[in-house]
Amino acid sequence: MTTQYAHWQLTKDTHNLFWLGLDRQGKSVNSIHGEILSELDEIITHLSNKLPPMALIIHSLKPTGFIAGADIEQFKDIDDPQVAIDLIRQGQRVFEKLENAPFTTIAMIDGFCLGGGCELALACDYRIASLDSKTKLGLPEIKLGIHPGWGGTVRLPRLIGSLKALDLILTGKSIPAKVAQKMGMVDVAVPKRLLKQATVQLAQKPPARKSLPAWNQIVDLDFVRPFIAKMMLKKIKSKVKKAHYPAPFAVIDNWQEYGVQHPQAYTVELESMGRLVVGDTAKNLVRVFFLQDRLKNEAKTFKFKAKHVHVIGAGVMGGDIAAWCAMQGLRVTLQDQKPEFLQSAMKRAHQLAVKKLREPHEVQNMMDRLIPDCKGEGVYQADVIIEAITEKLEAKQALFTKLETQAKPGAILATNTSTIRLEEIRQPMQNPKRLIGIHFFNPVAQMPLVEVVHSDDTDESIVGAGLAFVKQINKLPLAVKSAPGFLVNRILLPYMLEAVSLLEEGVAGPVIDKAAMEFGMPMGPIELADTVGLDVCLHALEKLAESFGYVIPPILREAVRQGTLGKKTGKGFYEYKDDKPIKEKVVDDFIPQDIIDRLSLRMVNESVACLREGIVKDADLLDAGTIFGCGFAPFRGGPIHYVRSSGFDVMRKQLEQLETRYGDRFQADRGWYDVA
Ligand code: NAI
Repeated sequence: MTTQYAHWQLTKDTHNLFWLGLDRQGKSVNSIHGEILSELDEIITHLSNKLPPMALIIHSLKPTGFIAGADIEQFKDIDDPQVAIDLIRQGQRVFEKLENAPFTTIAMIDGFCLGGGCELALACDYRIASLDSKTKLGLPEIKLGIHPGWGGTVRLPRLIGSLKALDLILTGKSIPAKVAQKMGMVDVAVPKRLLKQATVQLAQKPPARKSLPAWNQIVDLDFVRPFIAKMMLKKIKSKVKKAHYPAPFAVIDNWQEYGVQHPQAYTVELESMGRLVVGDTAKNLVRVFFLQDRLKNEAKTFKFKAKHVHVIGAGVMGGDIAAWCAMQGLRVTLQDQKPEFLQSAMKRAHQLAVKKLREPHEVQNMMDRLIPDCKGEGVYQADVIIEAITEKLEAKQALFTKLETQAKPGAILATNTSTIRLEEIRQPMQNPKRLIGIHFFNPVAQMPLVEVVHSDDTDESIVGAGLAFVKQINKLPLAVKSAPGFLVNRILLPYMLEAVSLLEEGVAGPVIDKAAMEFGMPMGPIELADTVGLDVCLHALEKLAESFGYVIPPILREAVRQGTLGKKTGKGFYEYKDDKPIKEKVVDDFIPQDIIDRLSLRMVNESVACLREGIVKDADLLDAGTIFGCGFAPFRGGPIHYVRSSGFDVMRKQLEQLETRYGDRFQADRGWYDVA
């Protein structure tokens, strides 16, 4: 017997078990909004009023996962904390009703179970999850500048203990079913094929609830919490500033003040969420979330799908690109003129596999897909060919003139060049319009963005195929025009140049880095230069200087001349110990605003120039590119959004003042009026 609701489907089976499947109308993925909650409310009332079922099993009817979270669209435009509170309260109320239902409730989880979806599962009596690699549980709200609001900050600590729960909430990380079971977040974890059968057994014979070990309760005591909260705050403060990211601080404050045993904890969670939802940080981080979607969607209309990738050049970049593609399930052939480079690339690929993939058989499968190919035989079968050889124009030209005669007709021919324009590389090719850039950033496994570089006359379908390929390998694709530095380096390099100029002027490296982090950058520019390699930075700056006339500070040339190239040589602008820079503590916490402005406005002004020149299609894509490619302070929503929200006139005035003090390089770009 089945009852159909707009979003839910309720089915009674022969064992008096009720199966409640969620299939959110009009969407491919389940996320929770007000209407879904109202229906759930009605269903619980209905089942409670009649002869209660033996158990209610909540599951997903979508092929893609359980529930991805709350629908954040509904919070996007709220400016009044009270409106936010009223909206969130509905979820708290319905989940409380679910928790107190007069029958056993079970969440049957297969695939992602995140945010509001995870909070729903936590309100059930039991959770059973499949051991499928796609099954992940977590409360990632912190990444959106908020925290769980439907009881998650209370129920998870009660279930698995405050320390483990707060760690999950504060990091926003999601965990596989096996780990969740070990933590006590799920009761049963079984292979996917046994999930339904095991759920029936669980429903028919639910085990008694285990209580947490005593030390977990000690952690929650009123006089113990302040000590633990202090330690947590210290850790958080070393990573982020409260003014930039208030949510983790709110989580710790709420917990310290009220713990999780008192019903008041739910009210505190609700009110705290109300304040966070309307704040700038949450609004901008939600914006970043949608920008990420925008990047993925740009590739959606193109059907290209690769099976085989051939990478030429097994150096720093080529080796890591090949490893990444193999990890994403593609067959990869990797070619280099020197076998020793292939050998070391294979070794690095294995290290990456061991780090990222849990199961030994997955490591083995990935390594089986990655084939060293000295002779370059993969060229003939590959769907995508990526060139990552030494940055020399003639060598790249010679390679592509040969490749275009060997590659399959529909195969993508791409270069990973950072500094050479497509128009130069493709010049001797018979079909020059075929060449695109697929520009990865270093380190490949960590950097989410990949630029898909095209000329004005590149066929749209070839650019589209490039975007689709980048999306296929789970990176964020951004189409950029072939112009010096493309987008990311064009914006990042003037900022790093300004940092090196400050160093030349005698400002200490740690002060410069701290200034950038005050603005919200994830890493200071001096440390970044060392990480990238001072030789790589110098080469890129020299190349860009040909177009933009940069003056390169002698301190950088001197470091390269002396062979102190940064982290990779153990010494650059900093000295390194265990791969970490030795930085003197900045004694005075006061960082002159002038330094912060010099660094940030170089980036912002260059962003405005890129927008004017049409390096990317529009302002949102520019913001997305700078956040995911340059690490531009995410909570500011991107440089163009930052200009618009801070006030065009204010920022122009700041630039004018810097121009008076430091010269032409701060002259406001002509594009400022378009942005305004
Ligand atoms: P690399 O010097 O580490 O590696 C280049 C590899 O290409 C070497 O193993 C060399 O033996 C091989 N090679 C040279 N000519 C070849 C040929 N004709 N056939 C086959 N193999 C050949 O260089 P890296 O740093 O990996 O850079 C490669 C490309 O990626 C360059 O175009 C560079 O601009 C670009 N890039 C570099 C980044 C970086 O941070 N290193 C970042 C983004 C792009």
